[in-house]
Amino acid sequence: MKRIKVKDILKAKNKKKLICLTSYSKSVSQILDKYCDIILVGDSVSMVLYGMPNTRQINLQTMILHAKTVKKYAKRSLVVFDMPFKSYSNKNLAYKNALKVIKETKCDAVKLEGGTEVAKIIKHLTQKGISVMGHIGLLPQNSKIFKLQGKSLKQKKKIFNDAIALSNAGAFALVIECVVESLAKKITHNISIPTIGIGASRHCDGQILVTEDMIGLTDFSPRFVKKYSNIRKIIEKSVKRYCEDIKNQKFPSPQNVYI
Ligand code: KIV
Repeated sequence: MKRIKVKDILKAKNKKKLICLTSYSKSVSQILDKYCDIILVGDSVSMVLYGMPNTRQINLQTMILHAKTVKKYAKRSLVVFDMPFKSYSNKNLAYKNALKVIKETKCDAVKLEGGTEVAKIIKHLTQKGISVMGHIGLLPQNSKIFKLQGKSLKQKKKIFNDAIALSNAGAFALVIECVVESLAKKITHNISIPTIGIGASRHCDGQILVTEDMIGLTDFSPRFVKKYSNIRKIIEKSVKRYCEDIKNQKFPSPQNVYI
């Protein structure tokens, strides 16, 4: 099976929509790998799996453990590692940590949050041969509240300039999170690298969601998350039936025992 490469993601601009989702585990990676161009080992794992209040508490080592598994079971998709909070505060630290991540997990690229303020770091990493995905608009590692970005003219200009700076710094794609539609459209039409929207409209070159949000395992339901199933309900129904079967001595049945 041929793995999707960074150059394939770049070539996709204006040709096809890029499909991206998050994964932190073996079984989810095996399913996503059939469909996704990019699988992101997101720092959202902190809230989704570990119940942390935000994405700031997850550390590099825990992220590396998840990424090793994702990369092992995703044979086709490009796998991107989300650099956790404070792991890329300056260019030397960013390079040291990104190198460790790539060596230990074999991930294809890393993602960093931030605009013009991280452009120099991204330039340093890309010059050293590390592929980097940018992340602009709402930056979960830095914002305490979940709020639409790019409403005021000042914010629009800042986010647009962020996109240009990261594209010039050598990022191969940009996640644009929770911004007004017109801004996402303008950025997408003005940079040569693909934009991946999350709450940023269909005008982006691709879309990403947190898988557990999309399948209804979490209770996070902002407007931009379309729920494609209600896995919580399905799990609960199964657990209830399991309880009833045990109480009524229907489980284990003869098929489930060794004679
Ligand atoms: O951590 C994450 O899952 C992300 C996506 C929401 C883009 O950064």
